Amino acid sequence: MKTITQILTEKLAAAFVECGYSAELGSVGTSDRPDLCQFQCNGAFGGAKLYHKAPRMIAQEVADKLSSDTDLAKVEVVGAGFININVSDAFLLGYVSGQLADKDLGIPQAEKPETIVLDYGGPNVAKPLHIGHLRSAVIGESLKRLAKATGRKTISDVHLGDWGLQIGLVIAELKERHPEWYCFSEGFDKEKFEGIPLTADELNEVYPFASKKSKEDDEFKAKAKAVTAELQKGEPAYIALWEEIIKVSVADIKKNYDKLNVSFDYWYGESNAEKFVPRLISTLTEQGLLHESEGAMVVDVAEEDDKVTIPPVIVKKSDDSNIYATTDLATIIQRMEEWKPDEIWYIVDSRQSLHFTQVFRCAKKAGLVPEGTKLEHLGFGTMNGADGKPYKTRDGGVMRLELLFDMVYDYAKGIVDKSTHSAEEDKADIARRIAVAAIKFGDLINHRAKDYIFDIDKFMAAEGKTGSFLLYTIARVNSILRKAELPEGFKADTIYSDSERDVLLKLALSGESYALAYREKAPNIICENAYQLASAFSKFYHDNHILTEEDENKRNSWLSVCSAVKTSLEKHLDILGIETVDLM
Ligand code: ARG
Repeated sequence: MKTITQILTEKLAAAFVECGYSAELGSVGTSDRPDLCQFQCNGAFGGAKLYHKAPRMIAQEVADKLSSDTDLAKVEVVGAGFININVSDAFLLGYVSGQLADKDLGIPQAEKPETIVLDYGGPNVAKPLHIGHLRSAVIGESLKRLAKATGRKTISDVHLGDWGLQIGLVIAELKERHPEWYCFSEGFDKEKFEGIPLTADELNEVYPFASKKSKEDDEFKAKAKAVTAELQKGEPAYIALWEEIIKVSVADIKKNYDKLNVSFDYWYGESNAEKFVPRLISTLTEQGLLHESEGAMVVDVAEEDDKVTIPPVIVKKSDDSNIYATTDLATIIQRMEEWKPDEIWYIVDSRQSLHFTQVFRCAKKAGLVPEGTKLEHLGFGTMNGADGKPYKTRDGGVMRLELLFDMVYDYAKGIVDKSTHSAEEDKADIARRIAVAAIKFGDLINHRAKDYIFDIDKFMAAEGKTGSFLLYTIARVNSILRKAELPEGFKADTIYSDSERDVLLKLALSGESYALAYREKAPNIICENAYQLASAFSKFYHDNHILTEEDENKRNSWLSVCSAVKTSLEKHLDILGIETVDLM
């Protein structure tokens, strides 16, 4: 379905052409002055340059051509040549009714639906999830839903960090603690291995312990490195143990993502890229791209017009170990071979931008991806505390995701417990949904590239740009709809008040915001539109006595508007990865 500004642009373009001007001039956007009009077209100014005529004259000719169009309630020339436009109520109602009947709810669909791989999450096995991983998960989940809603095919991959030194540290530590475990015995036989009694809690404790120890104890550090090397070479006992560690860790990681309503199609890890490394090295060697530098094997990726120095990407270190860039390059080979995507998006902290510049350039240079394949690093800023520094625990440690979630959950549960609306057995799930809405909306309302401050009171506030306000608005609509008999279909055929017209306009404009959010890969645009719609609804709700209205036509019309708001808000929130609640 076309967006409302697309329809208006077509009308204006036709009028420009009829007057003998270029169609391009007819571009219509939403109004910069919503107090004066709904839409505007500034094409007459471009026309003035092309046709050496006063912009006001051009604007007036075009406006005159449109005077008989009944879809338009007002086409007015103001100032030096702006065209201000209002649509007719009938047109607006017809457009919203069309959105509701559309199978995509009026969300503009891709013309050539691309296949997109989204790499987000990036948790590390054996290390607990921390808040750095939160943004990747929240933004990635939302971008995936947005891409899908606009007709694209998406493939999401968590890209587990499952192959690095952290595993070696954990195995080395477990060996010291449990030398009696079968996997540490001589003559290990996989057939006889029955697993290990390792819990997620112990694992979460082992890694930080081992990591600290390796910094103080060189001998231990050397052991951990040796274990890592043996593991990467395929030592059967370590591989078996590694599989057990992954099992425990992934179950724990999944539990955290589930709570947040975040999911992945693939749970591949860095280890899955391992088998593509030989091919990577041979491709780079054949093309003469790989050369030695200070004992390492590197590829030059600097370009002539670089404003800052882009150092060569290191593919092999002197000790022959693979590193982060090697893994990402090998993973590109795997993704191209398995999924042939048109685009790969990496939703990863902005501080990794040099790494991605190097990896992408190397991938293009070596032809690992065709010329037209887009590799995009969609970076994000940090979540800070009130002091403007990365959010920490009270004692200054890294904030675990679980802890942050529990804190918000407890806050929400405190509120839900006091409410008499919901049944006792539903309260835990309602509190979880409110917590998720607070965390996600609080994050996504900021442009992803920006840092923001985590402020639980602000995130949980019942008014303003918050998840709670949106959930509350939907719960309010639900309560109206429960008390009345909703007419079938969209029954609004007259607009009775300005506040109602405003709600309808916000509904009609949602298509533009989906399109823009997709173009900019910016879920904050969806958040903003959801907020605008919810606040227009609040005003409409306060201005009109929907349930007690005696005129049946009016009441039915308003109920239809309520139901349309609910449908649209739910869609916005769904794309943000936020689940709603019936009652609040
Ligand atoms: N595991 C990494 C980390 O915790 C993030 C991985 C991001 N994805 C990627 N393809 N490099 O920093």
